[in-house]
Amino acid sequence: MKYSEIIEILAPELADLNRLISQALNTSTPLMNEIVEQYLRTKGKQIRPVMVLLCARLLGSVNEKVLRAAASLEMLHNASLIHDDVIDETKQRRGVDTVNALWDNHIAVLVGDFFVSAALEQAAATGSLPIVRSMSELGKELSLGEIHQICNARDRHFRIDEYFTAIGKKTASLFVKCAYMGAEATGTPEAEAAPLLEYARLLGLCFQIKDDIFDYFPSEKIGKPTGNDLREGKVTLPLLHALAVSPRAEEMKRILDSAELSEEQIHTLTDFARAEGGIKYAYTEMERMHAEASAILCEAYPESPARRALLDLFTFIIRRDI
Ligand code: IPE
Ligand code: IPE
Ligand code: MG
Ligand code: MG
Repeated sequence: MKYSEIIEILAPELADLNRLISQALNTSTPLMNEIVEQYLRTKGKQIRPVMVLLCARLLGSVNEKVLRAAASLEMLHNASLIHDDVIDETKQRRGVDTVNALWDNHIAVLVGDFFVSAALEQAAATGSLPIVRSMSELGKELSLGEIHQICNARDRHFRIDEYFTAIGKKTASLFVKCAYMGAEATGTPEAEAAPLLEYARLLGLCFQIKDDIFDYFPSEKIGKPTGNDLREGKVTLPLLHALAVSPRAEEMKRILDSAELSEEQIHTLTDFARAEGGIKYAYTEMERMHAEASAILCEAYPESPARRALLDLFTFIIRRDI
């Protein structure tokens, strides 16, 4: 099943979800409404709410709690992107200008905060204390992941285990919460949901590894600039692998010591990562996690359309070019 087919199957629920999001962000403040309406015109892939909906279908069925939890998670994700684009000084996302580019940093920080609060409000509207608690934990986890990433950039230890810790917190945690909330909102006991949470964690790790690979290649389709990670001192899996195996590692680490990398130095480093098999290594790692995750899912849950869609979602995440 292609991702577009998964979206088609979930179309009525996704329409409800997007209505909920629009309502949740609607206020009597004209400027905020203008910014929000403009922002919501270009949606992302909405993979996180898709994940919540599929998990709910796997374990039970989609109810109002599920939809509110999914809306809450998508808004928190959007908040993190709006803030991330301020931090990274990114001017384009989803093929359009970012909030910080269209308005300014000051407004983008406030709009991001507004999205966080609207997300918590939706979580509260589920009436489920575990869901509210879980959203609060997640907000902390995402910030700690970003901080961990900054520490990695500062320490310059170039450790693969530290990379996995950072992406576990900043990205995979969100996917784990999608599964958790899908389970919680359908009243599924924790033990029954546990394998699904592990599936979501592995899927989330691969999601970020793939996103990081995009940064090594020029791309029109992706809708955001590439080559940015190194500029911010973020050394991701392909380059970490190359640094771990290549005899030229010390020479490359000296380049990484520069206070600010030039375009030429960025090219040297990405060429090096590619030439030393860094991209191939990252794909091999993803395939290993994919196989592990599929086995976990198939062992724990009987065959169903939702299970098939979850398996296909993982394949899409590894192969996607958007
Ligand atoms: C981008 O996420 C941020 C990362 C965790 C890498 P997505 O690629 O899911 O962003 P949208 O919502 O589809 O634009
Ligand atoms: C993910 O990291 C950002 C968040 C988890 C908020 P990136 O910095 O790689 O995300 P993009 O590439 O800007 O979308
Ligand atoms: Mg970024
Ligand atoms: Mg990225």
